[in-house]
Amino acid sequence: MTRISSTNPAKIELHLHLEGAAPPAFIRGLAKEKHIDIGGIFDEDGNYKFTDFWDFLRVYEAATLPLKSPQDFHRLTLAVLEESARNGVVYTEAFISPDFCGGRDIGAWKEYLHAIREAADIAQAQMGITLRGIVTPIRHFGAAKARETARCAAETAGDWVVGFGIGGDEKSGHLSDFKWSFECAREAGLRLTAHAGEWGGPESVRSAINDLNVERLGHGVRAIEDLALVDEIVEKGIVLEVCPGSNVALGLYPGIRQHPINALHERGVKVTVSTDDPPFFHTTMQKEYENLADAFDWDDGFFAQLAKASLDAAFCDADTKARLQKTLEQAHA
Ligand code: ADE
Ligand code: ZN
Repeated sequence: MTRISSTNPAKIELHLHLEGAAPPAFIRGLAKEKHIDIGGIFDEDGNYKFTDFWDFLRVYEAATLPLKSPQDFHRLTLAVLEESARNGVVYTEAFISPDFCGGRDIGAWKEYLHAIREAADIAQAQMGITLRGIVTPIRHFGAAKARETARCAAETAGDWVVGFGIGGDEKSGHLSDFKWSFECAREAGLRLTAHAGEWGGPESVRSAINDLNVERLGHGVRAIEDLALVDEIVEKGIVLEVCPGSNVALGLYPGIRQHPINALHERGVKVTVSTDDPPFFHTTMQKEYENLADAFDWDDGFFAQLAKASLDAAFCDADTKARLQKTLEQAHA
């Protein structure tokens, strides 16, 4: 068993859903404050309760119901970043959805975004963690809503909203339905990623690459089922946002040792490590690191390289990367 230093520092996270990172106690408290009934989404220990991926999506959406104002998202952002910083994360890219932030109205979206960014500024000053946003339509809400989301993204693209992605039910519709939205976001200067190769097989990964022109893949791990596709991913330098704890918790793989992250890495794929929706999956970045160290003998040196590769794949600007590069060098010295 490889031991990594308990304070394993300076982690870079590229795949985190802002609402999916909401601590259950935070959502419960907000629902109580607002007298909102969000149904039986918690177990007897107060954790989120779901049976499979599709039930997870239902519980996820129920948990967003008390998040009704920019101020709520301000509080959420602070709570999420506090937990990430506690786990040694210095840079996070979070998926944020105009669907949950003002119902895709551009004026409302700007107010939500302002509140989230204010919280991010506080977290930067007080906790030394940097946040950037990836605007994300929800696939099972359909292509028409995704186009509205893309317009919100394009309106606010810049040095803070840096990317565009898509999450939600991978079995709903086809990724090519979202071509217009991705093209709109790309023309606005946003960098592209998409959830694929989680519940969809290699064909979903091919579609993300060929139809949407993504440079990163959310999960993407099922590419391992088609080695020619893996080679194409390597050749094109496409980066995988791998979330091992999420994949195991949702039953995609029976355990971390059966997870393909190490095999993908050994074949030359650029892999990164993230938590996806940490309280849902009882994980943190520190736990992900410890589990990977145990399962695959990844050591501190390996994690230092992983952080560097993750920063290279981040969607933020060059100045931010240079600053964070120094942070990584100091932390891993
Ligand atoms: N939204 C939040 N988590 C997700 C996941 N793991 N896959 C797809 N959509 C999501
Ligand atoms: Zn995700």
